[in-house]
Amino acid sequence: MNIEFNSENKKKFEEILTRYPTKRAAILPTLWLAQNQFGYMSPEVMEYVGVLLDLPPVKVYEVVTFYTMFNQKPVGKYHFQVCRTLSCELCGKQEIVDHLKKKLGIKVGETTPDGRFTLSEVECLGSCGTAPMMQVSNEEFHENL
Ligand code: FES
Repeated sequence: MNIEFNSENKKKFEEILTRYPTKRAAILPTLWLAQNQFGYMSPEVMEYVGVLLDLPPVKVYEVVTFYTMFNQKPVGKYHFQVCRTLSCELCGKQEIVDHLKKKLGIKVGETTPDGRFTLSEVECLGSCGTAPMMQVSNEEFHENL
């Protein structure tokens, strides 16, 4: 796979750089752009982002592995990310996870054989007041589950 932003994302990347005082400060939106184009943060994608931002690959890796929003392996079309932090844990997150495991026939961290669904547990998504909750594909919140 050729790891390079397409022309649209090259323009977006250049625009992102204008919003930050240094290249390294633009790492989060650049990673987001990369994940949207390449699907997940492979070692090659992290290396590419490092080259773009003048960062060693290990610095990119540190950020990618800190934030659960960045996928380190391919995920299904629908990525169920169930919050596992305190409020959601106390309000029944395990029942949600157990239901999804049973319904999808997969364990946490796995993707269905047809590639449609991935199940993950993630850290607090900032919606503690509507716990328990989950996010689908980094885009939609489903609250008060
Ligand atoms: Fe689940 Fe904060 S603890 S959203």
